Amino acid sequence: MDSFGSFMMEIARQAGDWLKGRLDEEHTIDYKGIINIVTEADRQSEEMIVSAILGRYPGHDILAEEKDRSPQGSPYRWIIDPLDGTTNYAHGYPVFCVSIALEENGVIRNGVVYNPMLGEMFYACRSEGAFLNGRSIRVSGTRDLSHSLLATGFPYDIRENPDNNMDYFNVMARNAQAIRRAGSAALDMAYVAAGRFDGFWELRLMPWDTAAGWLLLVEAGGKVTNLSGAPFALDAPHILASNGRIHESMIAALRLASPPG
Ligand code: IPD
Ligand code: CA
Ligand code: CA
Repeated sequence: MDSFGSFMMEIARQAGDWLKGRLDEEHTIDYKGIINIVTEADRQSEEMIVSAILGRYPGHDILAEEKDRSPQGSPYRWIIDPLDGTTNYAHGYPVFCVSIALEENGVIRNGVVYNPMLGEMFYACRSEGAFLNGRSIRVSGTRDLSHSLLATGFPYDIRENPDNNMDYFNVMARNAQAIRRAGSAALDMAYVAAGRFDGFWELRLMPWDTAAGWLLLVEAGGKVTNLSGAPFALDAPHILASNGRIHESMIAALRLASPPG
């Protein structure tokens, strides 16, 4: 493993364990939208991670969820979700993670998703594979959508925007074995990489939700596209990720959904 990899695991563990220790405390909640919240823990976790990165790599660029920072023009950019699963966290529901990815010249080279509640460190390095607590992981072998366990989520503008995943959910729920909505997109993607879920889709995620999970999935033998099967890009609005084997069936099922109106 390269030094970036061990460093990102160290800072994800530090922030994640700190979040775990505060889970049952009372949180200060601010609203970014009607149901989109941020707590003091999101902000402090981000501060902890960013100051560790800039302490070690002062010229690197940072894209993190809670605070805008101007790019320095570095070939390296760290993409950080300091707490993925904020709504869960604010309710004391113990499903959340820290997600950190490192891009070099626009290509993600390392990614980590850390779930402090289970002590699970998902890590990927480009061309070197994906790992859970040091052991290699692969996507599932499920070939049939009707035997597949899927994950999804709903965008924060679910009340205002008719393109809110309800139609897709409706169709998928009748085509898959079951669907889970656990509330952390980065963990959902890590779980597809580890073969726990067979597929995942979601609308309007942000780069910090998907960057590390994307690399985990690619390195674990999975497939990541947009909802029609075209290549995924970090700034693309929608994502479809799977073990590869059920990808076409997922696309076909999504096509059955009536267009939003
Ligand atoms: C959210 C979670 C959730 C997903 C939302 C994300 P946050 O991230 O990943 O599962 O459905 O779309 O925005 O706000 O908890 O960092
Ligand atoms: Ca997130
Ligand atoms: Ca977050």
